[in-house]
Amino acid sequence: MMANSTSTGKTHAGSDLNYDRKTELKAFDDTKAGVKGLADSGLSKVPRIFINHQPNNHNGTDSHNIELKHSIPVIDLGGIHNDTSGRVEAVERVREACERWGFFQVVNHGIEKSVMEEMIEGVRRFNEQETEVKKRFYTRDVMGKKVLFNTNFDLFSAPSANWRDTLACIMAPHPPHPEELPEICRDAVIEYSKEVMKLGHTLFELMSEALGLNPNYLKDMDCSDGILLMGHYYPACPEPDLTLGASNHSDSDFLTVLLQDQMGGLQVLHQNQWIDVPPMPGALVINIGDLMQLITNDKLKSVNHRVLAKHVGPRISVACFFRPQLHAENALKSYGPIKELISDENPPLYRETTVKDFLAHYYSKGLDGVPSLLHLKL
Ligand code: OGA
Ligand code: NI
Repeated sequence: MMANSTSTGKTHAGSDLNYDRKTELKAFDDTKAGVKGLADSGLSKVPRIFINHQPNNHNGTDSHNIELKHSIPVIDLGGIHNDTSGRVEAVERVREACERWGFFQVVNHGIEKSVMEEMIEGVRRFNEQETEVKKRFYTRDVMGKKVLFNTNFDLFSAPSANWRDTLACIMAPHPPHPEELPEICRDAVIEYSKEVMKLGHTLFELMSEALGLNPNYLKDMDCSDGILLMGHYYPACPEPDLTLGASNHSDSDFLTVLLQDQMGGLQVLHQNQWIDVPPMPGALVINIGDLMQLITNDKLKSVNHRVLAKHVGPRISVACFFRPQLHAENALKSYGPIKELISDENPPLYRETTVKDFLAHYYSKGLDGVPSLLHLKL
């Protein structure tokens, strides 16, 4: 792996080779006002800490033809509970989507539209309230707090900062006291995460079946125990071609349930092309995370994705990550390829890891586009 020279600013092509990146990051972080604070100040240029130098950081999908030929699968979950053939069909579609795309959208998933809308509005209200109130939640103390607001969990480790602010709440297995949640979105967060937990159970059942395992297999492995909810706010950006809302990355978890508003900007790397995940009213985006790829021995794929920055905004999304939480007992549990999925012809590809060690690695490198499973390869 290449040495990470970002803290010295050496990856910065062109001018400003030796700027003191750390000091600029800290000065920005100390404002506690987030990217929205910058955007509201009316600046016309993106500060250099946000400039992304990864190749292929351009706006727009590569070709319309590609978009037409490849689109993210949409799966109807309406028939799965009372209709055997509907369930068989859904399992088959989930299997295909998880193997080929690592991403799909679901409709008729059981979560009321009003609950989803209220969740998006809650994130909007939180971010658009008075900065002084928001600042009280600004922290990087992931071990000490279950509710935190900040700009980029990896601000100080990633090669470039992302044009977004995030309210993160650990909602399972041990949720915060309701009073710890910001009042302005408290009810929405509690209600929505309850619903996502139910949907998660259904999805883990379908995925277990898709893997040829008994329906409770993944739940019994505690895959659905923990939920980290992240409400993202992507402000309008003055120079969207120079930065990203979210850098190229894969998710650290077993499974992500993503609610996005109608602004667009999420893209998936499919066969080396960036493909849009088009907003669909009422739908939720589901994707496989690294821990799922690890335990399924590469059968299900954790696929890279990113969010473009845009001239118009804000864009709001809410990602719920199913994974054991660092605060919980399961952080010390080891995960490796599932025994039933390995054989002489299909030997294990990864060594086991505890969630704690895996996340320590994921957090320390930040969203740098390098697969986080690489260091576990046998
Ligand atoms: C994430 C993510 C996409 C989005 O939070 O990991 O990829 O649309 N979010 O906000
Ligand atoms: Ni992601």
